[in-house]
Amino acid sequence: MSKEFAIIQFLPMRNTVSVVIGTQWGDEGKGKIVDLLAEKSDYVVRFHGGNNAGHTIVVNNKKYPLHLVPSGVLHSKTNCVIANGVVIDLEVLTAEIDMFIKDGIKLDGRLFISERCHLILPYHKALDLAFENARGKDKLGTTTRGIGPVLADKVSYNGIRIYELLNWDIFVEKFTFQAKIKNEILKTFNVSPIDIKKELERLSELRKIILPFIADTYQLLQKAFSENRKILMEGAQAVMLDVDFSPYPFSTGSNTIPGAVNTGAGIPVQKIGDILGVVKAYTSRVGGGPFPTELTDELGDEIREKGQEFGTTTGRPRRIGWLDLEAVKFACQVSGATEIAITKIDILSGLEKIKVCIGYKLNGKSIPYSSCGYQELAKLTPVYKEFSGWTEDLTNINKFADLPNNCQNYIKFIEDFLKIPIKLISTGPKREEYIKL
Ligand code: GDP
Ligand code: IMO
Ligand code: MG
Repeated sequence: MSKEFAIIQFLPMRNTVSVVIGTQWGDEGKGKIVDLLAEKSDYVVRFHGGNNAGHTIVVNNKKYPLHLVPSGVLHSKTNCVIANGVVIDLEVLTAEIDMFIKDGIKLDGRLFISERCHLILPYHKALDLAFENARGKDKLGTTTRGIGPVLADKVSYNGIRIYELLNWDIFVEKFTFQAKIKNEILKTFNVSPIDIKKELERLSELRKIILPFIADTYQLLQKAFSENRKILMEGAQAVMLDVDFSPYPFSTGSNTIPGAVNTGAGIPVQKIGDILGVVKAYTSRVGGGPFPTELTDELGDEIREKGQEFGTTTGRPRRIGWLDLEAVKFACQVSGATEIAITKIDILSGLEKIKVCIGYKLNGKSIPYSSCGYQELAKLTPVYKEFSGWTEDLTNINKFADLPNNCQNYIKFIEDFLKIPIKLISTGPKREEYIKL
């Protein structure tokens, strides 16, 4: 091989794909950050999860809670892709499409839904709820949107995809076969079976709404990066809910780490450039499972009220705790985060003291997050570092130097601890409320 050829071979590839992921237990403010970055993106792509996600964008004083449509939708020149890794509830997707159409936001030619996406069907939701009820006091606190059951069907070859919707007769056959079996299972839970005829009528109506948006998103994205288009991958949930890397079973059903970009959209891993980890300035968790830094006192209630920490999807009050940097450090390691966005720093204004967890102790010995199962996590003692608070309102500040000194110290500590540069600080829910570093 000539020397010249070797040099050309090893020229760095241009990475046109960026990823945004949550580094805690979800609801870090990913939607707001994706909307901000979407202005300069040609494509925003959801690649895993389903409508268990609730991503909020606030633009011109209007709040958009998005569950399936990617958070780039409010930028008219940005294309939105729901790639193969996403599981789709037609009721939710069509309601969202309808909301945008009523708002005058054009989706034709810019919303693309993969034909490989698996469908969340009525029996998946019924089964999710039935299992939760059967677990009683040990329930997991799922969103009951059918996520676990649809993903179980996917890997046991019982799933039905958008692809099947293209041929209604095949869909009816597959749906009827599956629904009959699921109805037998529902009977064992003493739950009413689903009405197959009625559900098929409803699905045939919803199908018509989404047919125009169905596309081969794999080819679409291959073409996009061959043209060096800017692609932004919108993670849902968060690393601490990843089905492999969370304290299972207090997880969601999908892999939430950037590896899912490959499986969930067909994008080769070498194409991935920046990985932005979103870190909320404190922690929230909705649903069951261990939460080492949880605040079960009045302070937790105060932060919940101030931060309006109520589920975007289910409306449930979110559990609140101090920032857990031991967990965030693990999330950044496993996901390869190259930069950080801090959100909701404004919510901490007014607290006299702020604590941050910098490690865990179990039976007097240090233990890393990665060595803990859910039983260890429930028993360990967090090691805290305490910071003096600040009182100023931060929402109109757009320069780091204008933040109160104590707030600057808090943010610098996070950066030093994680050893990853902080690129953005969000100071309020609105699009314009942020500091760029
Ligand atoms: P996601 O699931 O990660 O997209 O987060 P959610 O949308 O479920 O929850 C985040 C909530 O905080 C939403 O209501 C956002 O509008 C809001 N939010 C996002 N960033 C900020 C911020 O910096 N400050 C405040 N006060 N609210 C924010
Ligand atoms: P976004 O994208 C917070 C949690 C549920 C439950 C567990 C399993 O808005 O950050 P599932 O319905 O997925 O089977 O529930 O996962 N969960 C989330 N928590 N934000 C989310 O999404 C979540 N999606 C799922 O509360 O504990
Ligand atoms: Mg959310």
